[in-house]
Amino acid sequence: MLMCFFLETLGKGCTFIAVLLVAFQWTSEAARPLERKTAAVGSSVLLSAPDNIKDINFIQWEYLNGTTWDFIVQYYVGSQKPTLYAPYGDRVIFYSLNGSLLLEKLHETDSRVYKASINLIESEARTTLLKVLRPVSQLQIWSNSSLAGSPIELFCNVPEGTVENIDWEKDGDPLPQERYYLLSGSPSVLHIGKGEKSDCGSYSCNVSNEISWQESSLNLTIVSISPSLEHVLKMSAVALVFALVSGMGFFFLCCQSGNQRIKKETWRWMSVFLQGLVCVSSVLLFAATVLWMQEEGPFAAFILLDFLLVYVIIIMALLSATLVCQPAKLSGFKTKPWQRVILDSAAPGAVILVVLFASLLLQKISQLQERGCSQTVDLTGYAVTSAVISLLGLLTLFIWYHRRQGDQRENKRHSKEETDQEMQQEPEEDMLQQP
Ligand SMILES: *[C@@H]1O[C@H](CO)[C@@H](O)[C@H](O)[C@H]1NC(C)=O
Ligand SMILES: *[C@@H]1O[C@H](CO)[C@@H](O)[C@H](O)[C@H]1NC(C)=O
Ligand SMILES: *[C@@H]1O[C@H](CO)[C@@H](O)[C@H](O)[C@H]1NC(C)=O
Ligand SMILES: *[C@@H]1O[C@H](CO)[C@@H](O)[C@H](O)[C@H]1NC(C)=O
Repeated sequence: MLMCFFLETLGKGCTFIAVLLVAFQWTSEAARPLERKTAAVGSSVLLSAPDNIKDINFIQWEYLNGTTWDFIVQYYVGSQKPTLYAPYGDRVIFYSLNGSLLLEKLHETDSRVYKASINLIESEARTTLLKVLRPVSQLQIWSNSSLAGSPIELFCNVPEGTVENIDWEKDGDPLPQERYYLLSGSPSVLHIGKGEKSDCGSYSCNVSNEISWQESSLNLTIVSISPSLEHVLKMSAVALVFALVSGMGFFFLCCQSGNQRIKKETWRWMSVFLQGLVCVSSVLLFAATVLWMQEEGPFAAFILLDFLLVYVIIIMALLSATLVCQPAKLSGFKTKPWQRVILDSAAPGAVILVVLFASLLLQKISQLQERGCSQTVDLTGYAVTSAVISLLGLLTLFIWYHRRQGDQRENKRHSKEETDQEMQQEPEEDMLQQP
């Protein structure tokens, strides 16, 4: 070493030998303990030379490139200016007074070991491990799902920056280990088991490295039921209301048919309207059960119910169509007692079915709604709207009926015979819903 130094000072090109010696030295004998420095990309960092050597003749800066040391600067005290080597040459400022080296416009690839030696005294060389980091940028945090009962993952995405550490917290506290876990390979993904009410809360992820950190949080609201179950809920509510109203209507028709018979024309349209309501509520319940089974798997009672509903829908549609177009033909369907039973029991049976199963669905979904912390679906609007629509329909028919009654009383006074004739042409009154 010393011999080489003397050769150098003598002005002989001993550089090559020196490099070999230095490389040998690095691998064989640990130099001075490493100093560590961290800097951000684009910034500058000042690296210091050894300060314990009095008589400075020669200062040299090198960097570890793979397994070899490459030069950055060499400076002989007394010479005009230091010799700078590529590729660092144009990015360094060398202070010849104290031997410090200012590394500018840092790249991530500048993360490496730098060594300053004075008078080529290897044992006194000062090595610095430089870490160049990209500061962490604004985070994005999102969840892949928030549905109760489905596996939920939270993602903490760092668009820019060197990620050294990710800390997750829930409502400001560290995560309980038994419920949440991070895969060692991707600590930016928080795995939550199947979503539960207790998982609702504010999750934050803190991504940091030595020079910067960023935090972002997400309010996780566990949604208790999926959008299609929400539809099931609404459809069941509307079906229930329609069924109840039509049930009331049929009840009224039965009572009326005993004493003060509703005039046949009104009766006809009332039946059509009520059958229409039953039909609509059956269709709604049918769709609701199909949607339910899509979400929650097949259910024997619902499959059976759907067959019955299809049957009811067909009968109601046929009856309504007949009542509308050719009321006279209706009695032809009912020549045999079993036909009568089937046709007459279809509507009340459907009403009972719809009321029972719509209530069942409503109750089941209400239970499910307790799994999450989202707002429960408000059915009041749907129930009120459907009740108003169906009752308005009934009301219109009643008003029409009473006005007709008034008209007919007057007509009777004027032309009793004419009315009697008409009555004979019209079909029998005994069509449907008559005990
Ligand atoms: C060396 O000198 C430069 C310029 O005068 C100064 O900025 C730097 O802090 C000095 N280094 C040390 C280690 O004192
Ligand atoms: C490191 O060594 C390689 C080849 O040995 C060379 O091309 C490169 O310029 C050196 N320096 C840096 C900073 O990579
Ligand atoms: C984020 O983490 C860094 C490094 O661990 C810490 O210094 C900082 O205070 C944390 N931020 C918050 C808001 O907890
Ligand atoms: C989460 O909810 C709290 C209180 O409800 C609110 O203060 C906070 O701003 C919310 N955070 C986000 C990210 O929405």
